[in-house]
Amino acid sequence: MAAPVTKVGILISGRGSNMMALVEQARGYEVALIASDKPDAAGIAWAQQHGLATFTQSPKGIPKAEYEAAIDAALRDASVEIIALAGYMRLLSDDFVARWRGKIINIHPSLLPKYKGLDTHARAMEAGEAVAGCSVHVVTEELDGGEVLGQAEVPILPGDTPDTLAARVLEAEHRLYPRILAEFCAR
Ligand code: GAR
Repeated sequence: MAAPVTKVGILISGRGSNMMALVEQARGYEVALIASDKPDAAGIAWAQQHGLATFTQSPKGIPKAEYEAAIDAALRDASVEIIALAGYMRLLSDDFVARWRGKIINIHPSLLPKYKGLDTHARAMEAGEAVAGCSVHVVTEELDGGEVLGQAEVPILPGDTPDTLAARVLEAEHRLYPRILAEFCAR
């Protein structure tokens, strides 16, 4: 009998290039739902064009608990087992994280534990780092603080700007995330 395929839900807020990489390189997992806090996210349009199930819920004007309950219900309706955050730019509440304890992973554009939070590339360059990169980690209540599952490094080159560095890191993200998600689903 074939091994069961883990159902993954991906949360995005924008462009969704990591989500596309997770869809296009899916092995050992199946993308069951793509959800967003931004109904007009470019990644949602891409997902719909590719016949993937989508769910959007704006958090505007409703309590956070209500917003998250809607996302939670959509994920459970789609039988999602693992959640992959991919450029999802909203903090999940402690309650949500507790309900999905050990089942949420995230990609972050720095070599954690360095440069948690925002503006990671500018901060790495200002600090005079020679290398930058990305990390996939388990999501806990601590921002960008859970177990690191995998990392990829790229050089910081003379003449780099935060944007050129971000583009180099993003390519590394697209290679790293599908591999680490597949490993995580198999463990
Ligand atoms: C990616 O670089 C991802 O690492 C970062 O946002 C970008 C999303 O791009 N995530 C964070 O900063 C999370 N704190 P994408 O929408 O094209 O995948």
